[in-house]
Amino acid sequence: MTLGTATDRSTTDEAAAWWRSAVVYQIYPRSFADSDGDGIGDLNGITAHLDHLEALGVDVLWLSPVYPSPQDDNGYDISDYQDVDPLFGTLADLDRLLEALHARGMKLVMDLVVNHTSDEHPWFVESRSSATNPKRDWYWWRPSRPGHEPGEPGAEPTNWGSFFSGSAWELDEATGEYFLHLFSRKQPDLNWENPEVRQAVYAMMRWWLDRGVDGFRMDVINMISKDTSLPDGPLRGDGLYGDGSAYFITGPRIHEFLREMHAEVFEGRDAQLLTVGEMPGVTPEHAVLFTDPARRELDMVFQFEHVGLDHGDGKFDPRPLDLRDLKHSLGRWQEALAETGWNSLYWNNHDQPRIVSRFGDDGEFRRQSATMLGTVLHLHRGTPYVYQGEELGMANVGFTSVDQLRDIESVNHYRAAVAAGEDPAVVLDGIRKMGRDNARTPMQWDAGPQAGFTTGEPWIEVNPDHVDVNAAAQVDDPGSVFHHYRRLIELRHREPAVVHGDFTMLLPEHPAAYVFTREHDGVQLLVLGNFSGETLRLDLPDADAWADAELVIGNYDGGTDIAELRPWEGRVHRRSV
Ligand code: NOJ
Repeated sequence: MTLGTATDRSTTDEAAAWWRSAVVYQIYPRSFADSDGDGIGDLNGITAHLDHLEALGVDVLWLSPVYPSPQDDNGYDISDYQDVDPLFGTLADLDRLLEALHARGMKLVMDLVVNHTSDEHPWFVESRSSATNPKRDWYWWRPSRPGHEPGEPGAEPTNWGSFFSGSAWELDEATGEYFLHLFSRKQPDLNWENPEVRQAVYAMMRWWLDRGVDGFRMDVINMISKDTSLPDGPLRGDGLYGDGSAYFITGPRIHEFLREMHAEVFEGRDAQLLTVGEMPGVTPEHAVLFTDPARRELDMVFQFEHVGLDHGDGKFDPRPLDLRDLKHSLGRWQEALAETGWNSLYWNNHDQPRIVSRFGDDGEFRRQSATMLGTVLHLHRGTPYVYQGEELGMANVGFTSVDQLRDIESVNHYRAAVAAGEDPAVVLDGIRKMGRDNARTPMQWDAGPQAGFTTGEPWIEVNPDHVDVNAAAQVDDPGSVFHHYRRLIELRHREPAVVHGDFTMLLPEHPAAYVFTREHDGVQLLVLGNFSGETLRLDLPDADAWADAELVIGNYDGGTDIAELRPWEGRVHRRSV
């Protein structure tokens, strides 16, 4: 595919927006492919598997962090932004990967984690060394709550809980002050109010772009601007800590910071770059502002609404999805960004359970449900992201013991919930369904030992289902999930209506059918997905007009009545209008 010619990003034309017709593939390097037998995936492992990605047809790779890190949060705790952790290889290995990708016409997007650093980053080491260190103000230091001695229960400067259980504040004994960490205590938040911090981050970003990388996925980037008065938040469900999100999600200076970043880092670069901001809690109203090309902030954002619809009292208390909620939510985002801005489309990433287990059927109808889910997602208007293994229909693991877990979020949650008196079996059940380790088991390359991921002992157990579900088997099978994803990507590349078409939701109140049209330049597409194991007969608007339409892609052999959907069937029809 041709991605267009290099264009100055200050224009808003189609070549500048090349990423609208692209598909991005996310790699979680520690779980993708291990080239040296230490049980942890690495850069050379990725380079060795580029044929797989090229056969799939993806345009861009996004790498989760490979920088030096104590690995408290698997690399999202960075201690040096301008190097590679020896676990994953060297800078030279990264350069080779980049060159190999570019030679195949693919691009590389790096993870940018600048809401926080590791507590072992030299910036923080300096900052914590004394209350008068010039870098003290690079992080959020606060004295204990008035009337409390440091270290006393309740002495934390605010009542905020961290995303990884416990308080969001950690006492530093040496200076008697607390520092803020929205995530683990080894991930102190950077203080973006300080212009030196911002300039240091921009310089680092320019360094990566000068090296040849093609953009950034920006970790929790809508949390970098905080309400500097740091008020307490309403108590969370655990009854122990407050929810401070109103004071750090889409904070007062966020648009200003992102515009400044654009001007300092991206403006005037004569290259095709991609920026996507991860934004928990972002609203469609703000997403339009973040992604309006004229405002020069970001190309697109990852919103979280659709992956929160099956959360009950917190993410580890899942409830069944009501399909009408999903249609309402994604439909609302389609509408909100129809004229201005752009959506990213995803079911999976390294933080989400596997979609075939979550919204599909990972038993009898695994192939059908995985391919239907892919079809529905990729036919929305926006840029689709495929997470490693999604193209094989990889499923949740079914963890039976806490010893199998590796993720700091799950491990901390288990400890905290059990300590608070919850039934350990119920807590584990929530983690089994929703835990992030589900996404992080090794990529299933073949049916052999350790799924062909490593010759050593993998850092996290391989899913036993790899004997049936693996890349080697699927690449040879035209009816596989892999080939369905390949066809979806190919369809996007050849059919402008997939990229540009207007979106119209049909049958929004149907409890099991997901139906919509896309229309562009005299072409209309009808997308049908059955989110159930039952055969459905639909009361389809305009059914007669579609009766003879071409079947562009489907996950069953042989045709059917336009208004009938077999279990987990997904189809796209095309007609001229
Ligand atoms: C979001 C990342 O996707 C997640 O994996 C990480 O734990 C947090 N941000 C903290 O960096």
